[in-house]
Amino acid sequence: MTKPLSRKVALVAGGSRGIGAAIVRRLHTDGAAVAFTYISSAARAEDLVASLEGQPLAIKADSADPEAVQRAVATTVEHFGRLDILVNNAGILIHGMVDDVSVADFDKMVAVNMRAVFFAIQAAVRSMGEGGRVITIGSVVADRTGFPGSSIYSMTKAAITGLTRGLARDLGPRGITVNNVQPGPTATDMAPTDPALAEKVRSLIALGRLGEDREIAGLVAYLAGPDSGFITGSSLTIDGGYLA
Ligand SMILES: NC(=O)c1ccc[n+]([C@@H]2O[C@H](COP(=O)([O-])OP(=O)(O)OC[C@H]3O[C@@H](n4cnc5c(N)ncnc54)[C@H](OP(=O)(O)O)[C@@H]3O)[C@@H](O)[C@H]2O)c1
Repeated sequence: MTKPLSRKVALVAGGSRGIGAAIVRRLHTDGAAVAFTYISSAARAEDLVASLEGQPLAIKADSADPEAVQRAVATTVEHFGRLDILVNNAGILIHGMVDDVSVADFDKMVAVNMRAVFFAIQAAVRSMGEGGRVITIGSVVADRTGFPGSSIYSMTKAAITGLTRGLARDLGPRGITVNNVQPGPTATDMAPTDPALAEKVRSLIALGRLGEDREIAGLVAYLAGPDSGFITGSSLTIDGGYLA
């Protein structure tokens, strides 16, 4: 049976671990040729490559550097000959109360969570045609933050909702869809490690558990696939009822 993404080429920005690695695995399983970027987790990137038959392409590229992001897009197109799906997953959360946020931390979160997303998309859509798919991993914090100390992170994720709507308008006439996936608390390295806070977060989720990375990847695969062609400019929440 033909796989839903056979003959498609995907790039996942930030694919070495957590939700990004699950997206790499899922798009690969669905038949796409996949490239992904990483910056610090070289060993985990190597393990991921080795674990997948046909082997995805791992590219070291710092999302804080727009030129590195654009080079990663170019490398993917050179290697695979085309690009159909871009997933912007790389993201960082640096906690800080209003009195403590430094200019450096503010700039780093904006650079990785927002600026990189735009410039990756700008580079990627040059190679995309009808049927192209752009998916960014935002967060439920765009709608409700819930806890103190994440104002700048929430700002960057809320910005993705506006960017997604604007780019959907720019790219709709070219047959390219642009969507935003907003996970709720998901069991990755980014989840709270403090047991009391982890329990508090869990208690706010209607289903009583954190999301799994493969569940977020499933929604991304749907948006990347052939059945989602009429969805664009949307922010889709996947949070086990955290916002319910
Ligand atoms: N986990 C949650 O509860 C949750 C909820 C809502 C939204 N999200 C969002 O989902 C996305 C993935 O989160 P996660 O939980 O999987 O986080 P994670 O486990 O911390 O993984 C983050 C990924 O992003 C990559 N990355 C970070 N900074 C980078 C940079 N400067 N350049 C290139 N790659 C970089 C990391 O690569 P290296 O390891 O190589 O640094 C890693 O692959 C993020 O955008 C996050 O904001 C997460």
